[in-house]
Amino acid sequence: MQLSLTKALTLLACTLLSAATGPTKTVKRADSTQFVSTQGTKFFVNGSEFPFIGTNAYWLQALNEEQDIINTFSNISALGIRVVRTWAFNDVTEIPETGTWFQLIANGTTSINNGTNGLQKLDMILKHAESFGIYVVLTLTNNWSPSATDNLTSSIDDLKSSVQSRDVVETFNSSRPRNFLSNDYGGMDVYVRQFGLKNHDDFYTNDTILNSFMNYTTQIVTRYVNSPSVFSWELANDARCNSSVAASPSCNPQTVTKWHEIVANHVKSLDPNHLVSSGTQGFLCVGCPKLNPQPTSSTQPSARAVVGRRSVVKPLTRERIIQDRNAQWKRNKALLPKSEVQEREEGIRVRGRWVSTPTRRQSSSQGVGSAFDGSQGVDSEDILGIQNIAFSTFQLFPDQNSYGPDDPSLSPFNNTLQTGINWITTHGQIGQLFNKPVSLLGFGLVTQTNAPDFVPFNSTIAPFAPDATSTAATTKASSAADANSTQTFGVTDSEQDTAYASWLSAGIVSGVSGLIQYQWSQGNLTTSPNTAISPNNDTTGESSNDDTTGESPNDGYSIQGVGEDTVQSILQNAVQSVSST
Ligand SMILES: *[C@@H]1O[C@H](CO)[C@@H](O)[C@H](O)[C@H]1NC(C)=O
Ligand SMILES: *[C@@H]1O[C@H](CO)[C@@H](O)[C@H](O)[C@H]1NC(C)=O
Ligand SMILES: *[C@@H]1O[C@H](CO)[C@@H](O)[C@H](O)[C@H]1NC(C)=O
Ligand SMILES: *[C@@H]1O[C@H](CO)[C@@H](O)[C@H](O)[C@H]1NC(C)=O
Ligand SMILES: *[C@@H]1O[C@H](CO)[C@@H](O)[C@H](O)[C@H]1NC(C)=O
Ligand SMILES: *[C@@H]1O[C@H](CO)[C@@H](O)[C@H](O)[C@H]1NC(C)=O
Ligand SMILES: *[C@@H]1O[C@H](CO)[C@@H](O)[C@H](O)[C@H]1NC(C)=O
Ligand SMILES: *[C@@H]1O[C@H](CO)[C@@H](O)[C@H](O)[C@H]1NC(C)=O
Ligand SMILES: *[C@@H]1O[C@H](CO)[C@@H](O)[C@H](O)[C@H]1NC(C)=O
Ligand SMILES: *[C@@H]1O[C@H](CO)[C@@H](O)[C@H](O)[C@H]1NC(C)=O
Ligand SMILES: *[C@@H]1O[C@H](CO)[C@@H](O)[C@H](O)[C@H]1NC(C)=O
Ligand SMILES: *[C@@H]1O[C@H](CO)[C@@H](O)[C@H](O)[C@H]1NC(C)=O
Repeated sequence: MQLSLTKALTLLACTLLSAATGPTKTVKRADSTQFVSTQGTKFFVNGSEFPFIGTNAYWLQALNEEQDIINTFSNISALGIRVVRTWAFNDVTEIPETGTWFQLIANGTTSINNGTNGLQKLDMILKHAESFGIYVVLTLTNNWSPSATDNLTSSIDDLKSSVQSRDVVETFNSSRPRNFLSNDYGGMDVYVRQFGLKNHDDFYTNDTILNSFMNYTTQIVTRYVNSPSVFSWELANDARCNSSVAASPSCNPQTVTKWHEIVANHVKSLDPNHLVSSGTQGFLCVGCPKLNPQPTSSTQPSARAVVGRRSVVKPLTRERIIQDRNAQWKRNKALLPKSEVQEREEGIRVRGRWVSTPTRRQSSSQGVGSAFDGSQGVDSEDILGIQNIAFSTFQLFPDQNSYGPDDPSLSPFNNTLQTGINWITTHGQIGQLFNKPVSLLGFGLVTQTNAPDFVPFNSTIAPFAPDATSTAATTKASSAADANSTQTFGVTDSEQDTAYASWLSAGIVSGVSGLIQYQWSQGNLTTSPNTAISPNNDTTGESSNDDTTGESPNDGYSIQGVGEDTVQSILQNAVQSVSST
């Protein structure tokens, strides 16, 4: 399933051609306002379909000068990108001496900062977005906001080996300034801690916290209710039961679904102009009981733009997931040289090599996998059934999550590529089933160059030394053998390019209406000490900041450096492909 870059780009070009002649081109004048609306599985703006390619820049509000925001939008829009996803929250527990903050949450009370280092930054972002014709996805909180106090019973070595727990400045003398990482802007667990509670899911269920979050939401949403530049209100990044603050035993996907319904209704009651979406990673719970109506089947014009072809989309079931997977594995095996079949069947992949182990058979009879069985503590289909949730969201981060078991006939990278394509295709079908648009809000792969900077969302330290191991390939196979591997973590730049081009193509042909890469990289930014764009004196030597200009933060997914130009041209190609419909 690995495609060469040229092949992947050709696929994009073919998509362009077929899209230009396919039936999906028929434009209904759904809503001729400049606010984004939906009809069926499509987004509309100004009465025309609005499929988009976008990028993430959570750190926009942390830039030091207005001109930096302008330069960033200018660069982004030079590629033809019209949608940018960014954080619309920044919770602190004490007022910081430097940098941006939006809300003080301390000792059970909250207050908002509407000063020049507060909401006026967000005002500026929306103002300039408007002048570039950019639409901004505004995220209202984050599932992840780890803190040193989450679990201090672990030893430092435990913390280093367990990315669940975390660093931090005190423990590890981290050189990363506040707001450098996406999980360092506050979020759910800041409310939980500051309201004196102890479970992550108190955020979803405690009335006092809910009122407080609704209060914040009210102020942000009403502030921008008439802004034409808001693409949508995203209720939370990656909401689920688990976080670095533990969940109570009673938390289950329905806990998270109920919260989405309450908050979506609240936002919609304040702001009828803009769409509301969840922001989950798209994790599913097939076969779980649902709170919201689920379609039983849907007949849609084929997303593949074949003239006249209609396809019946059925709900996802455990049986179908396993059946489809077995069929795909069988096809892949047929392509594999006979000599390799046996070796792989008997082995398990450990950091790129096939190692013989008797557990292989057990693991090949696995169930649907953690992305589908509710074990992530969220049911994105149940959430999509909520009336005020206008479109479906999902994310794709193979370095942090498993989207299905590995096919022993494929190399690690080919597995990454294929499970990613499957994940995208599955979500395209879910959108057709619910007759709502689907958007991939974030996708990324860590390259070997970026590996030293890689920090999973649930951690604030990079747990992997430059050529240390673990993760992606490896979170799955955390055997003792890992400790001695010398293989570099991360994909090569060219593998990243192949994956990005293939996933974008897969999204376009699967009818995913919005595809947002994670994350943008911007240079020539104004530095200021102790802000996310600090002058260069970090100890990693990775930053290319000098004293006066700097780069946007890199959490392992930034496209700065070697691969930047290629990734940008891949995005640009995709933009051309979707905007010609
Ligand atoms: C990966 O996929 C490509 C394209 O299908 C194929 O040529 C290559 O042999 C595969 N690599 C491995 C190690 O499976
Ligand atoms: C993007 O920004 C960088 C740094 O400011 C600049 O050198 C480059 O020319 C810009 N690229 C585009 C396409 O505007
Ligand atoms: C919160 O309470 C603690 C302990 O009483 C106190 O040290 C801290 O200053 C308070 N924080 C704020 C922002 O009032
Ligand atoms: C609502 O937010 C405002 C502004 O931050 C604050 O003054 C007020 O105390 C909050 N009310 C509640 C009930 O949290
Ligand atoms: C900030 O909030 C205060 C109190 O609500 C209000 O009087 C003031 O006009 C606000 N300033 C800005 C710039 O929004
Ligand atoms: C919609 O129309 C407005 C007003 O003319 C314009 O500013 C905006 O860029 C248009 N949006 C799109 C996606 O064409
Ligand atoms: C803290 O971490 C240790 C070691 O990982 C674990 O055994 C313990 O249950 C954790 N405590 C809490 C309160 O989460
Ligand atoms: C909700 O949180 C508040 C504030 O910490 C606390 O006083 C209250 O007891 C909690 N409610 C429930 C039902 O636990
Ligand atoms: C945190 O990330 C690591 C590495 O991706 C993963 O193994 C672990 O399960 C995650 N923890 C939680 C609570 O999701
Ligand atoms: C790793 O390497 C060390 C030193 O060479 C050796 O003592 C140890 O047994 C090895 N561990 C494994 C799991 O191979
Ligand atoms: C760098 O930023 C400054 C200030 O915004 C701007 O004047 C200059 O043109 C930029 N240089 C490049 C190469 O983008
Ligand atoms: C970083 O540089 C600034 C300005 O040069 C300096 O004040 C600060 O002490 C330095 N910090 C470290 C950790 O070296």
